[in-house]
Amino acid sequence: MEFRTIEPKILYFGTPVALVSSLNEDETTNLAPISSFWALGWTLVLGLLDETKTADNFARHKECVVNLPTPEMWPEVEKLAPLTGKNPVPELKAKQFHFEPQKF
Ligand SMILES: Cc1cc2nc3c(=O)[nH]c(=O)nc-3n(C[C@H](O)[C@H](O)[C@H](O)COP(=O)(O)O)c2cc1C
Repeated sequence: MEFRTIEPKILYFGTPVALVSSLNEDETTNLAPISSFWALGWTLVLGLLDETKTADNFARHKECVVNLPTPEMWPEVEKLAPLTGKNPVPELKAKQFHFEPQKF
């Protein structure tokens, strides 16, 4: 059996991906893949980075939909991975992400 050390050395066994839709200021919808989400009773906890359009949208409009894509939709989810609805793209993300207002 072959062992591989991953970087960073964390316990990451993979979790389902949700697509969180939230409302932009112009009433269009932003879509963000997240994997840090779980339910505690009737509360759904979302682990969300600060510097996202989604976080901006939540600060303004405290509603969202947590969508669960089917496994067959993985190519579409991958397409969303390098996108942000935030313009300008935050410095931290500038190398990997580009702005896309129309994620649907
Ligand atoms: C598979 C996958 C899982 C992700 N999980 C999270 C997560 O749990 N929390 C988070 O804040 N961002 C997560 N991201 C990164 C966000 O999708 C990324 O920050 C994105 O720019 C957010 O979009 P927005 O800026 O338009 O809101 C994940 C991305 C991918 C592809």
